[in-house]
Amino acid sequence: MGFWVHCDVSIAAAVSLLLVVTLFFVCKANAVLIDCDIFKGSWVMDKSYPLYEPSTCPFIEREFSCQKNGRLDLIYTRYRWQPRDCDLQRFNSEDFLQKFRGKSIMYVGDSLSRNQWQSLTCMLHSSMPNANYNLTREGDVSTFTITDYEVKVMLDRNVYLVDVVQEKIGRVLKLDSIEGGKLWRGIDMLIFNTWHWWNRRGPSQPFDYIQDGNEILKDMDRMLAFEKALTTWGKWVDSNVDPAKTMVFFQGISPSHYNGTLWNEPSAKSCVGQKQPVLGSTYPGGLPPEVTVLKDALRKITNPVTLLDVTNLSLLRKDGHPSIYGIAGMDCSHWCLPGVPDTWNEILYNLLI
Ligand SMILES: *[C@@H]1O[C@H](CO)[C@@H](O)[C@H](O)[C@H]1NC(C)=O
Ligand SMILES: *[C@@H]1O[C@H](CO)[C@@H](O)[C@H](O)[C@H]1NC(C)=O
Ligand SMILES: *[C@@H]1O[C@H](CO)[C@@H](O)[C@H](O)[C@H]1NC(C)=O
Repeated sequence: MGFWVHCDVSIAAAVSLLLVVTLFFVCKANAVLIDCDIFKGSWVMDKSYPLYEPSTCPFIEREFSCQKNGRLDLIYTRYRWQPRDCDLQRFNSEDFLQKFRGKSIMYVGDSLSRNQWQSLTCMLHSSMPNANYNLTREGDVSTFTITDYEVKVMLDRNVYLVDVVQEKIGRVLKLDSIEGGKLWRGIDMLIFNTWHWWNRRGPSQPFDYIQDGNEILKDMDRMLAFEKALTTWGKWVDSNVDPAKTMVFFQGISPSHYNGTLWNEPSAKSCVGQKQPVLGSTYPGGLPPEVTVLKDALRKITNPVTLLDVTNLSLLRKDGHPSIYGIAGMDCSHWCLPGVPDTWNEILYNLLI
């Protein structure tokens, strides 16, 4: 008798323990979904990264291919983004492609969009090297198709989102006009970006005038112009996107590293020689002001738009740029691949699952 009593008690105890453990994990999983800001965290060393070797991405552009261009230190490829309050799931190509079977994804923006687009194409191809693919370009649109899954990963080069039009007086940047949007209709997932070209002046500025409403101006406050263009784009999203069909993301402001004062290394005049991220979660220089303008503009949009809020995590990555291992002088704006944009895509994947 004593034996049975003893046994019942242990079974009851085991069952309760199991229940408690189960409840704990269920609650924890919910807490993760509800409370975790995946953009808050720090970079940790993880030897299972990068997600791909550059040699496994045959179409990688020279511009981003720092190793091919002679960069020897590779520690920068081994960092993984660790959110403070939860874990990210590792990118899974098969799962990603199943979700997007028969669908199209389009990045729209400047070369930072190309950076993230290229990253995703490399992430997909390297893990399924035997899947057939096709890479084509027509006008401003590059298309990477994984033929077996009928998934299209596209890039539309459009640096301001609003239009630049050749007129009699010259090239006019039209803050209220967004004809380029014709190419974005019916895409299943759109990831927009614009910022880096708004401060271009001199020979690399691709317009001669700015049109704001009925006014044609020689120039204007560029932050204000950026804000007006975002407003035009937001109206486009509200009147052209069917939220039942299309998911809309904004890539967020990708930061540059040309001023070491901002990471407490005043002698550094660029990112050259930087081999490690800023450790911890805080960038001494703080957030650039364009982030506030962007966030304000996003709040005015009615349709759902998700901000890939990559600025903070990328600010910490002063080590992630090509510097002299790019194609044009000192590049502390773009990112080496494999590298930081892989994390942007891994976060995008986590927001989708
Ligand atoms: C980003 O940095 C700013 C300023 O350093 C801080 O106020 C904000 O909370 C940070 N955001 C995240 C998601 O870490
Ligand atoms: C790749 O795309 C081009 C343009 O759409 C097409 O002509 C070609 O047949 C495609 N190739 C393959 C292998 O699917
Ligand atoms: C670098 O940043 C500091 C702090 O914001 C600023 O005072 C300084 O003018 C900047 N230097 C350059 C070359 O822009």
